[in-house]
Amino acid sequence: MPTNDERLAQLDALRAESLLGGGADRVEKQHASGKLTARERLELLLDADSFVELDRFVIHRSTDAGIADQHPLGDGVVTGHGRIDGRTVYVFSQDFTVFGGSLSEAYAEKICKVMDLALKVGAPVIGLNDSGGARIQEGVASLGGYAEIFLRNVLASGVVPQISVILGPCAGGAVYSPAITDFTIMVEGTSYMFVTGPNVVRTVTHEEVDAEYLGGATTHTTRSGVAHLAVPDEASGLSAARQLLGYLPANNLEHPPSIDTDDPVDRMDVALDSIVPDEPQAPYDMHAVLRGVIDRGSWFEIQQGWAQNIIVGFARLGGRPVGIVAQQPAVLAGALDIDASVKAARFVRTCDAFNVPLITFVDVPGFLPGVGQEHGGIIRHGAKLLYAYCEATVPKLTVITRKAYGGAYDVMSSKHIRGDLNLAWPSAEIAVMGPAGAVAIIFKDAIAGAADSEAERSRLVAEYEARFANPYIAAGRGYVDDVIRPSETRPRLVAGLEALAGKRDTNPRKKHGNIPL
Ligand code: HXC
Repeated sequence: MPTNDERLAQLDALRAESLLGGGADRVEKQHASGKLTARERLELLLDADSFVELDRFVIHRSTDAGIADQHPLGDGVVTGHGRIDGRTVYVFSQDFTVFGGSLSEAYAEKICKVMDLALKVGAPVIGLNDSGGARIQEGVASLGGYAEIFLRNVLASGVVPQISVILGPCAGGAVYSPAITDFTIMVEGTSYMFVTGPNVVRTVTHEEVDAEYLGGATTHTTRSGVAHLAVPDEASGLSAARQLLGYLPANNLEHPPSIDTDDPVDRMDVALDSIVPDEPQAPYDMHAVLRGVIDRGSWFEIQQGWAQNIIVGFARLGGRPVGIVAQQPAVLAGALDIDASVKAARFVRTCDAFNVPLITFVDVPGFLPGVGQEHGGIIRHGAKLLYAYCEATVPKLTVITRKAYGGAYDVMSSKHIRGDLNLAWPSAEIAVMGPAGAVAIIFKDAIAGAADSEAERSRLVAEYEARFANPYIAAGRGYVDDVIRPSETRPRLVAGLEALAGKRDTNPRKKHGNIPL
């Protein structure tokens, strides 16, 4: 029988062995390719010395001749829990140095274990992805393992925040786990996501493409909208995941954490009083509006490079986290197109799921016209945003800065779809459509019959503008609660947010709604 000392020595030796991953050579290769190891990443992600590992002795069960004699401890994924800003999170970190980080049955069980624990205790899950996908030697057991993870991703969706950081390959069906999570962060140059890689693409469609262009960070944050953030290096990606959690509660039964702010809540930015140009078609930068309103230094933009005609992101107002949705008049005049609708709808639902109040800044000329948009399904996609705002029960505060035309007025958190506090600037124009379009329709005959058609058209446009292009008709009906000076926006929103902090609202009981996907 071994002595206690011998047993302890054996434990120490096994623990040391479990830290080696795939061995020194593969660790060196990992570093040489500009990547950190699974454990180094966890150190950067979590508060110092807070990581507690689970399942370090798990080994794979494959009897395949190629790997049956190799049983690296932990089997290619490091799992456990730790803290971020003092709050518990569950984590898994895929270890590319062990069989290319490929997923075996035992490896999937480790991930499922931390996901189950996270769901039980109501804590976020952060997955660090760097894997060659299903472990080829394990066949269907590996595919089953993925499905077990997907199922848990879905069951945890809307209950605990889930964040995926992509730090290497993520290919095939494996992409569907990050795709279901709330946020996907990708590292430029070293990470990629695709359903089928460049070789398969070449064979099937004869397209020549490299991995970076097919599914790199830039592609997924500017073209496809699959990922939410592109970061220049791993440390920035892990830091972004930490920051992101700072705006979110640990689970759907809690409120997001408030912090103290040294930005005075009654600060008024007088520059806002002249930010909307006198010329109604002239653009301005909605980011400048946001800077004048939110707590200084609190901006965290999501999907910055994709569908830039709408801005979404987290901020704080008086220290409280909020989700911002804002048209960007400087891009496509702020019109709602397919991508903007999908981007904002997803963000609205994320905020609603996690009790983050929504602040909406409106300057929208309508849905984007065009054959491409109609045939691409703008009706179906635009409906997603309408649906998301309608079903959201978090405090909803709206500021109309300029245009709120047509159906887009209704969609953008209007009073009619349970907007709680709807404010307008004096420059707001709330109407069925813009003056030129409206006059061309309702005064078609008068313009055609006038001696000077152009002069008559201008006169009618001016008359229409004076009558309809202002916020007072809506305010007269109570559809906007107040018309405010732009510089008053920050104090009014802070006060509104405070007054709505105890908001309780529900939707009818149902199995689930049927959002037009
Ligand atoms: C088993 C794998 C593996 C896998 C890589 N390895 N992928 N072992 N199953 N899926 C092993 C390699 O044999 C190698 O072992 C080590 O990991 C490192 O791989 P390299 O190829 O040397 O690394 P690199 O050149 O960086 O290329 C990485 C790679 C490539 C691009 C990921 O390995 C690759 O294409 N792998 C296959 C990817 C793939 O098609 N996976 C299946 C996707 S479909 P040694 O011992 O030589 O170091 C899928 C379905 C999911 O995953 C289904 C969910 C529903």
